[in-house]
Amino acid sequence: MSRKLIVAIDGPSGAGKGTIARAVAAELGYRHIDSGAMYRAVGWKAVRDGVPLSDEGGVRALAERSTIDIDGPVVRIDGVDISRVIRTPAIDRAATAVARLPQVRDVLVARQRALGEGGGIVMEGRDIGTVVFPLADVKIYLDASEHERARRRAQDPAHTGPTTLAEVASALVERDRNDRTRHVSPLYAAADAQVIDTTDQPIADVVRDVLGLVQSRLTTAR
Ligand code: DC
Repeated sequence: MSRKLIVAIDGPSGAGKGTIARAVAAELGYRHIDSGAMYRAVGWKAVRDGVPLSDEGGVRALAERSTIDIDGPVVRIDGVDISRVIRTPAIDRAATAVARLPQVRDVLVARQRALGEGGGIVMEGRDIGTVVFPLADVKIYLDASEHERARRRAQDPAHTGPTTLAEVASALVERDRNDRTRHVSPLYAAADAQVIDTTDQPIADVVRDVLGLVQSRLTTAR
């Protein structure tokens, strides 16, 4: 039996994290966890329950008392399937707002670490290789041009919302600016992450490169 690794995949929206993480996890027989879905779930419930997104203690308490289950593409909060309703422009903004709150991040990061116990996981997000698993076995930072990321997001059937590419692009740029400039756990590539620009790369090539990194890690004695 080979060692079960932790694979961290970070990067901005539309860089290909979901597609690549899903394929790599399937290939390895690992669990795939989209940590962004946890921030979306908390943002969705705060909006539903009328908890102001700036009320850090209130949103933290809400996160603490919520059960969030991620099972591949299916996301549940307190047993309710919210997979589709969390991918709207309103929840894009709510997730970005709650992701700025340090106390909320503390709650979700602890759960993400618990999910990684024992390894055998591919987790995607913004701070997986920098904060959640600084000792991850493999760290990937995916990026792509702004235009390409907006194009992918506009075509993603999982996301509903603005229809013009220009609208999608401006919302995406705004969200990324927030994620990169916030005080806690901003988005950046870990010093030891492998940076892959996916702009003109076929998915299969990126998956192959990531699997190659995993393979070389598996054959390295630790
Ligand atoms: O990946 P996504 O677009 O579903 O993420 C939703 C929001 O949560 C986005 O603003 C980035 C933020 N996020 C984060 O701060 N840390 C993570 N590990 C994952 C997502």
